[in-house]
Amino acid sequence: MTEDLHDRQIRSLAESILLKNYKVTFFLGAGVSTASGIPDFRSPGTGIYDNLAQFNLPYAEAIFTLDYFKQNPEPFCVLAEELYPGNYRPTVFHCLLKLFEDKGILQRVYTQNIDNLERVAGVSDEFIVEAHGSFAEAHCVSCRKSYTSQEVWNKLIDKAGSHKGIPHCSCGNYIKPDIVFFGEALPQRLFNQWDEDVEDVDVAIVAGTSLTVYPFALLPSEVPRRTRRMLVNYEKVGDFVKGRRTDIFISADCDTIANKLAAALGWEQDLKDLVEKVLETHKEYKQKRKKEQDEVKPDDVTKETTKEADKTEAKQKPKQDKAETKQADETNSKLDKPELTDGKSSEEIEDKLSKLNL
Ligand code: OAD
Repeated sequence: MTEDLHDRQIRSLAESILLKNYKVTFFLGAGVSTASGIPDFRSPGTGIYDNLAQFNLPYAEAIFTLDYFKQNPEPFCVLAEELYPGNYRPTVFHCLLKLFEDKGILQRVYTQNIDNLERVAGVSDEFIVEAHGSFAEAHCVSCRKSYTSQEVWNKLIDKAGSHKGIPHCSCGNYIKPDIVFFGEALPQRLFNQWDEDVEDVDVAIVAGTSLTVYPFALLPSEVPRRTRRMLVNYEKVGDFVKGRRTDIFISADCDTIANKLAAALGWEQDLKDLVEKVLETHKEYKQKRKKEQDEVKPDDVTKETTKEADKTEAKQKPKQDKAETKQADETNSKLDKPELTDGKSSEEIEDKLSKLNL
């Protein structure tokens, strides 16, 4: 496919958005964040799942599996410290989402990502659905006591403390951020919001995802036939492989296409200005947090969240998205697989777990 064809397709989509007052719904995965330095999960060689050898995991996805976490939380904690909100800057693509909001044509952002970068770019709570949870809150895996993001961060970086950087609850068990692990129910907000949105999706932009994790992978296939769909990803994935007549597939870097789409919409300068502003704010936040981090003392873990940086970026948390653990009500949802799975059958997963001798 030539570059010219991509440009024509982007221009035509932009014209539809502007002329027909279409709103845009985004469906995002790890590929929209790789430009900020966060690896995705499944890219051969560079993806997180290919780089877990140091942990001796029985299989890569065990790092996001509750039974394994209860036995050995260290691999997840090491990864969590690395991916914790605040470490990485938003990408151009994240800034484009904010621009869609500012221009009044953002319908929703459904994201599988746990890096918080949509929020850091300034997208408002009401537009974001964090399908796989977030670091905004955390709970004890045993007594369910709740902890703030900052409390968990303090415990994670407290390597000299008695728990050596593994967040422990006052009851003695482990604390897990409300990231949805395999086999856990997805946040109820995903199902409620999707029921409200699904028939209203004018334009669906799917970006940076392998669409291999369910039920999220089903969302783009559930939009009406009239919806204009565009996939921006290195490979064709999900039901884009079979495709619809009006689908657009662009095999290119997410940020490159974010810039092109902004230009086609006449927002080139707006995007440049926003990227500059967002990066400057992020830089200031990181400096503040570094200063605070240097002041953390061993076992300084029960401190309340009064710190300055916490009031800004790390604290940017969803109002409604509580990553509820109760089973999603299937009858209220168009999605029929409310638990997180990677397309493997529950028998396969149980088989793997039983071999772990947990
Ligand atoms: P994957 O790693 O499975 O897929 C990322 C996709 O993005 C791949 O198809 C890449 O080729 C593509 N990609 C990477 N960088 C890109 C770039 N700059 N431009 C365009 N395409 C790019 O990540 P996800 O689909 O997000 O679950 O993974 C889904 C879930 O699997 C994650 O949410 C995670 C994981 O288990 C949890 O964290 C609970």
